[in-house]
Amino acid sequence: MEFQAKWIRSQNIEEGVCPVFRRTWAVDRAVKHADLYLTALGVYEARMNGVRVSDYVLAPGWTAYKKRLQYQQYDITEMLEAENELTVTVGKGWFSSPMPGWAESEDKSRRMHQPKGILGEIHITYEDGQTEIFATDSSWSCGESPVRFSEIYDGEVFDGRFETMDWCEAEEFEWSEDILIPQEGPWIREQERVSAQNVIYTPAGETVVDFGQEVTGYVEFTVDAQAGEEVWMVHGEVLDSNGNFYHDNYRSAKSEIRYICRDGVQTWHPVLTFFGFRYVKLEKFPGVAKPEQFTAVVVHSDMKRTGYLRCGVREVNQLFSNILWGQKGNFLDVPTDCPQRDERLGWTGDAQVFVKAASYNYDVERFFRKWLHDLAADQRANGAVGQVIPDYMPEEKPSAAWGDAAVICPWQLYLTYGNRDILAEQFGSMKRWVDYITSETTEQYLWKGGVHFGDWLGLDAPSGSYKGASREDFIASSFYAHSTELLIKAGEVLGHDMADYKVLYHHIVEAFRKSYPEYFTQTEHVLAVYFGLAQDPQKTVDALAEMVVRDGRQIKTGFVGTPYILHVLSEYGHADIAWDLFLRSDYPSWLYSVGCGATTIWEHWDGIMVDGSFWSADMNSYNHYAYGAVADWVYEKAAGICLLEEAPGFEKVKIRPMPDKRLGWLDASIDTRHGKVSSRWCYMEDKIRYEVMVEMPAVVVIGRREIQVQPGSYVFWDGVNL
Ligand code: BGC
Repeated sequence: MEFQAKWIRSQNIEEGVCPVFRRTWAVDRAVKHADLYLTALGVYEARMNGVRVSDYVLAPGWTAYKKRLQYQQYDITEMLEAENELTVTVGKGWFSSPMPGWAESEDKSRRMHQPKGILGEIHITYEDGQTEIFATDSSWSCGESPVRFSEIYDGEVFDGRFETMDWCEAEEFEWSEDILIPQEGPWIREQERVSAQNVIYTPAGETVVDFGQEVTGYVEFTVDAQAGEEVWMVHGEVLDSNGNFYHDNYRSAKSEIRYICRDGVQTWHPVLTFFGFRYVKLEKFPGVAKPEQFTAVVVHSDMKRTGYLRCGVREVNQLFSNILWGQKGNFLDVPTDCPQRDERLGWTGDAQVFVKAASYNYDVERFFRKWLHDLAADQRANGAVGQVIPDYMPEEKPSAAWGDAAVICPWQLYLTYGNRDILAEQFGSMKRWVDYITSETTEQYLWKGGVHFGDWLGLDAPSGSYKGASREDFIASSFYAHSTELLIKAGEVLGHDMADYKVLYHHIVEAFRKSYPEYFTQTEHVLAVYFGLAQDPQKTVDALAEMVVRDGRQIKTGFVGTPYILHVLSEYGHADIAWDLFLRSDYPSWLYSVGCGATTIWEHWDGIMVDGSFWSADMNSYNHYAYGAVADWVYEKAAGICLLEEAPGFEKVKIRPMPDKRLGWLDASIDTRHGKVSSRWCYMEDKIRYEVMVEMPAVVVIGRREIQVQPGSYVFWDGVNL
């Protein structure tokens, strides 16, 4: 839409204080309809006559701001009165917070010094047919708000006693209007409320509130206080081995709120920031804190739950829950690595690792489409994809398996949801990424050179390194092949001539096989097979299985190998070893963290070590969804719900369960674009009962039998012999 509005910002405001903008007007006739269009450089909270205009939180959301800034449209017809006041408070949000927290750069200081401002219009249509528009310009006023400070990493300071008295003229300023786009992603909202379970007094003498669940959002509290008393709380994820509050892993992110009370009983939560936490330490709190005074408000993007997993082992159900909470905690407008420390960035590698599981757990089509538009918008002139999207580190070179998100994510969304538009929208970006590798490599048909994260956090990492032992150019070259292959498939779906890329792909596979005849790590075996590069996949997986057994039936893979290792083992006759890894509860394993009381997925297999100490504070998040990718193996292999490439969106489905007695029973279902599919198996003595329910055509594979199942059927097989 064409705006008449001007960008406005505040004048004469104390540094750091959040401005509030105001427009007042009278309505003297019957109103038929009224809309507010609004956006901000920062995050805003808008109120009409004292009431929030909507339940959208942290508007206008997070996009590649240099190119794309969403505006929102709110129907305010019912909110109008004879005398009206619109106020809009603006915090730094993602727009001008010091992100990332650990490094200085030109781009970061540019962002931190960007002006906070708003642009908006109120459109009123009266019953008599006349229309009126109030657009932001210098006739709007502005002043200091009670939000004395607000920022993504450090938190918020709010003075409950403060009333804005000094209003002055807002200042018009120049900022692009070409970047404005209507709301594209799902809305960000308060989604759930988690009551505090306990108030703990730690051995160190701290008062700590425990919500029993790691969440992303903020704390709402109620307090009876005298004016000037303070609530000061710091957010944390875990207690240390002595039971004391631990905050070092937030690094430079203060993650605190400070609230100066007014007189009386008052309930408050911040509105322009968010935190990742399970605990809050009360540095100051009027009176004796009781659990019923605190509620954690869970904030994330709207996404409908579609996938359900349940089984006969309590710890595994807890793992499923942790995976879902990891997704909820990191799907706040952008898929982020973590919600707590001084990152909270759209790390591309993490997103591609988790996208498949994410797309089964929830309907994330709209969420990812918006993010992929940002990825394309931020893609550099030479096709390079930022390490994080929005690209807050344009000085850094892209890494293999991270930049490949440009290809892997759209392809997966297409498969899960069957919507070709996603491929059509992203095709140019996908192609530019593959071309980037082709132009960047120091050796044709492989990806050599460059800076890579390797098999990030793999347990075979040489001491002192975060990168697993797998060769970086091996990983880079294998992803080059994989992305090229997916690009060809995408091009064929869209009807493009992909002949040149087929030749390229052929050369890559040939060069790969020649250069890497041997595989030395778990991840190298896994990638060679999963990406179709191994000359003899069966032999390779047999060797992988032996290696895993030699390694003590332990997983050694990092971000790159973990999502696929159980798949390749199961696919090539070693499902028993896949199950061993999945059900292992000793360190290192998925269930190890569950045994340590985790309520979300950890960044490190050993976030808390066997002796109770922590992995070093400089890189230790307890809410990193990446290893939660194992959920896609549970849907696809354990329960056997296979997404067929020739039937995207689950137009047809193959169900080939791979049960294991140790789990007792497993129940999995996905609400797909073509209806629901569910698969259930249950051990009864030494026999198994299988049940499937499908709303689309299916072929069920049990042992050597292939059974065609009609849409709308419920079928079971009882007492199948093992
Ligand atoms: C992030 C990761 C990310 C990685 C890249 C970390 O700091 O938290 O999840 O993918 O850096 O190496």
